[in-house]
Amino acid sequence: MLGIKTGLKKLFRLSVKKLLRGKLSNDLIVRELMESFRADEMGHQAKTSGADLGYGWIHYSFVRTIKPQNILCIGSRHGYIPAVLAQACKDNKKGHVDFVDPGYGPENKNHWTGVGYWKTKSGKRSFKKFGLEEFITLYVMTSAEFAEKRRKLAYEYIYIDGDHSYQGVKYDYEVFWPMLKNRGFMVFHDIFVKGMMSEGKYGTNELWTEISGKNAIDLHLKGSGLGIVQKV
Ligand SMILES: C[S@@+](CC[C@H](N)C(=O)[O-])C[C@H]1O[C@@H](n2cnc3c(N)ncnc32)[C@H](O)[C@@H]1O
Repeated sequence: MLGIKTGLKKLFRLSVKKLLRGKLSNDLIVRELMESFRADEMGHQAKTSGADLGYGWIHYSFVRTIKPQNILCIGSRHGYIPAVLAQACKDNKKGHVDFVDPGYGPENKNHWTGVGYWKTKSGKRSFKKFGLEEFITLYVMTSAEFAEKRRKLAYEYIYIDGDHSYQGVKYDYEVFWPMLKNRGFMVFHDIFVKGMMSEGKYGTNELWTEISGKNAIDLHLKGSGLGIVQKV
């Protein structure tokens, strides 16, 4: 009896492992991914128990629709949005995410709620568990260090969620905008967030007011807000 139970448990674990490496196609996989990369209810309006990706749906559907070859993602505490982007590439059978985060934690002055995850072994291994390793490369460095090394790249989709000071987010905008392909999209998290942190004043809202013109989609979502601007 015990043997059958153990066998069934083993089989179940194997099937879950197999499922995790598949398409984003059922609630079990979605919930596993959300838990593993700590999808948060506040910042992304995500609800893991209901397999509701929140803002993640927007990124996922954009990537599934425009089928980009190259995506750049700057900053993520535990990897939720980079994982969604990589999963969308995997489901497209095409595309790659360059994910840049220095793995800042509270000991760094400009961590902007970073938790030091990308410097740890589990951070570095996290994408493999979901079979995403072919679709994403992690660069443990600042956006400035990355831009210095990889100046010639061109992207169809760029997501900015790193240094949230006005100077920081403006730097990312100015440096990466020229690397955005014509008709590509640049997406900013936290466009509605205002106020002070120990790191300084939130600045995405101010930059967004400056750059959002006629080619911008100002998504009036609950929560931190997402600003999308197309290069035309
Ligand atoms: C606000 S957190 C991102 C939180 C995000 N809303 C989420 O869902 O995970 C900011 C992240 O940006 C990273 N970061 C801070 N300064 C950066 C920089 N100059 N370049 C790239 N990433 C940076 C931090 O290490 C941190 O992980």
